[in-house]
Amino acid sequence: MSSKLFEPLAIGPVTVPNRIAVAPMCQYSAHDGCADPDWHTQHLMNLAMSGAGLVMIEATAVERRGRITHGCLGLWSDETQQSLTRVLAAARRVALPGTKFGIQLAHAGRKASAQRPWEGGSALAADADPWTTASSSALPFSAGWHTPDALDAAGIARIKAAFVDAAERAAALGIEVIELHAAHGYLLHQFTSPLASKRTDEYGGSLENRLRLPLEIADAVRAAIPDDVALGARITGTDWTPEGIDIDEAIVFANALKALGTDYVCVTSGGIATGISIPVGEGYQLPLAADVKRATGIVTRGVGMILTPRQAEAAIASGQADQIALARAFLDDPRWGWHAAHDLGAKLAFPPAYDRVRAAVWPGANLLRPAT
Ligand SMILES: Cc1cc2nc3c(=O)[nH]c(=O)nc-3n(C[C@H](O)[C@H](O)[C@H](O)COP(=O)(O)O)c2cc1C
Repeated sequence: MSSKLFEPLAIGPVTVPNRIAVAPMCQYSAHDGCADPDWHTQHLMNLAMSGAGLVMIEATAVERRGRITHGCLGLWSDETQQSLTRVLAAARRVALPGTKFGIQLAHAGRKASAQRPWEGGSALAADADPWTTASSSALPFSAGWHTPDALDAAGIARIKAAFVDAAERAAALGIEVIELHAAHGYLLHQFTSPLASKRTDEYGGSLENRLRLPLEIADAVRAAIPDDVALGARITGTDWTPEGIDIDEAIVFANALKALGTDYVCVTSGGIATGISIPVGEGYQLPLAADVKRATGIVTRGVGMILTPRQAEAAIASGQADQIALARAFLDDPRWGWHAAHDLGAKLAFPPAYDRVRAAVWPGANLLRPAT
């Protein structure tokens, strides 16, 4: 059987060796934006040899106040950049051949200044060093959350400059794929969704106006980074309520990104407000990815409750997505790619020091072979 999941994919200027991506996953383990030398190193080293062709680094704040929590990674200074240099060098040293690294650049907007999930995930209390948040409109995420400042023209200019600066730093780190986080209820989503934006200026109201900020950022970032770095965006396929973004708006967004030279989109959903019911289930966001891919032709990544290699293979083989991303499955099993290659009969290089695993678990294994 020849596996479609293990076929290479060109994402603009970057070719990944297979269609498997590790989704960006906040580790809440950074220190004032700097990667933790132990935690982030082991985390990314493990994922680098997972068999995924693309490893996305977690949501990384473009400015200090854009962090979700005190533990969120950042890329706004020489210090934060330097902290990633060592981590990336270690991860690249053990990465399987061809593995590419991406980073998700983000700003949490009104969802910033929050506790780590394991501390409760709510807004930081007055005694927990909270900070002033900013958004499209001065509306809190939910009851009990900080009321953000509505960004004025100077604030919008500052955010744009911060995304460009962080993207330049990512390119300087040799990161091959840069992704703008425009989903999950964070700042760029707060501008695109009418559930969060009540602006009446050129950044609010019509879809064209609501898309203006992320598109201006995509345009500015594309112009600032080298041609051999791929640019993508994580976008919302639906807010899961008639008052929010729907798939038709997502398609307009993806088409506009494509026209600006964005190389791919990852289609996700939800997170803009509380109290909205989401039909979470196996591959539940793949139909959204399929609609975007069909309507726009942009390289499209699908994500969400893709758990098994066969499910992933089917998503690629059926054309629902060009690439799939898994998050929790890779935390559970950082060798997911090895096991997928085994299940689907694909070839995958192992780190030489671990090559004898093949004899134990791969086809033709002879468990009784004497150790040498
Ligand atoms: C621990 C954890 C951290 C996450 N952090 C991010 C993040 O930094 N950026 C993002 O866009 N999504 C983040 N997500 C969402 C995942 O990228 C993914 O979209 C979601 O978990 C669904 O995929 P899954 O069913 O394979 O876990 C996170 C998910 C988890 C479990």
